[in-house]
Amino acid sequence: MAKHSDDVRDGFTSKFGIICAAAGSAIGLGNIWRFPYVVGDSGGGAFLLIYLGFIVLLGIPVMLSEFIIGRRGQRNAFGSFKRLAPGKPWYLVGVMGIVAAFMILAFYSTIAGWTLHYVIQSFANTFAGKTSTEITRIFEDFHTQAFLPLLWQIIFLAMTAWIIFSGVKKGIEKYTKVLMPFLVLLLIIMAIRSVTLEGSYEGVLFLFKPDFSAVDSGVLLAALGQAFFSLSIGMGALITYGSYIGKQNNLGNIAVEVSLADTLIAILAGVAIFPAVFAFGLDPAEGPGLIFTVLPNIFHQMPGGYFFSIIFFVLLAIAALTSSISILEVVVAYLTEELNLTRHKATFMAVIAAAFVGIFCTLSFGTLKNITISELGIFGLLDFTASNLLLPLGGLLIVVFVGWYMKKKDVKEEVSNRGTLKVRFFDVLRFILKFIAPVAIAIVLFDSLGIIDRLTG
Ligand code: PFF
Repeated sequence: MAKHSDDVRDGFTSKFGIICAAAGSAIGLGNIWRFPYVVGDSGGGAFLLIYLGFIVLLGIPVMLSEFIIGRRGQRNAFGSFKRLAPGKPWYLVGVMGIVAAFMILAFYSTIAGWTLHYVIQSFANTFAGKTSTEITRIFEDFHTQAFLPLLWQIIFLAMTAWIIFSGVKKGIEKYTKVLMPFLVLLLIIMAIRSVTLEGSYEGVLFLFKPDFSAVDSGVLLAALGQAFFSLSIGMGALITYGSYIGKQNNLGNIAVEVSLADTLIAILAGVAIFPAVFAFGLDPAEGPGLIFTVLPNIFHQMPGGYFFSIIFFVLLAIAALTSSISILEVVVAYLTEELNLTRHKATFMAVIAAAFVGIFCTLSFGTLKNITISELGIFGLLDFTASNLLLPLGGLLIVVFVGWYMKKKDVKEEVSNRGTLKVRFFDVLRFILKFIAPVAIAIVLFDSLGIIDRLTG
């Protein structure tokens, strides 16, 4: 029998379960794969500082706003806007989120597929005794071919669909609470190994010593996109999850705790990666392949590296899964609640559509690499459009909705659980939602697109 989506909504009744689900969504490839390579592309330390600023000033308020909309609307992203703003076009924010979810799922599954391949390579001990140049070549050969990366991508999407079908709650709650602390422990061990490698100090400086001379509007946009991507905000994933949060839970606390956990893991990943990048003479700006060329080198240099490598890539794949289900859930919750499809049919349709677009992303590293628009291939184009444009634009509209459209009283009721919680920060929050966040997001977004230049002549 098809599961009704209310089964899922019932699921997150314990506070710990909600934190696990939201953190499971936030913590994923964005922290461990995307964060290091974007830091590397964007020049290091200065980017990190800007990123942290964006998390605190924009990320946490947007996340809280999504929870507010979801819990008050008690629906998917699209339906929550329809309920809270009947007859108004705000539901278009939900539509934009669904488009972004497709795009993200398409390219996310490419990288998650690479991760699965690296699980098997770790088992097979493929990298044993190889030089760092050879490790890079193995990655090059793998990710530019067609068959294997596609196969792994499809397997990953099938796993995502399978979890979504069989109900989100048990899976996420059960696994994330054991496995994520394990991932953190492993990252700490890898970070220690990385900073104790000979020649690693330059990498520590790269990550932590800010050099603002390289900061331009592109770097600001990259930091904004990365913050939104990593926190899973701007497309309604956390509106959807917010609708599953019980009335007694403290939304502000959850937003702060999840953001903190997410950020710490990203920084840990940075500390594991960059010292090693410099120690092995690799290029920090090498792009999406960064962790796949750096990490096998680190495992090499660790006692028990064979096992660490297997465990690490397995955990990374699981972290990717707990994120990808939250992306797919955006689409599935919409299809079941608004179009009355069964959960099975909705999942099937959504995943087939994502796979169709995803195939082009995966092939864009090899067979289709000559298809480019302003120097971006299909993969880069989807990532840029979804992460750097649609998520910030969605986030902008979300804070404007909560800051300007919703009644102050209603917002306060959600944040304070009908007055049962003391919210000392409410006025600050409101000021951020009304003025600081919308203006800051708008400036970064429109400046990097050259719109501000054009307007000011
Ligand atoms: N936050 C996830 C990660 O860091 O891997 C990716 C993601 C999940 C982005 C859900 C957006 C989203 F709605």
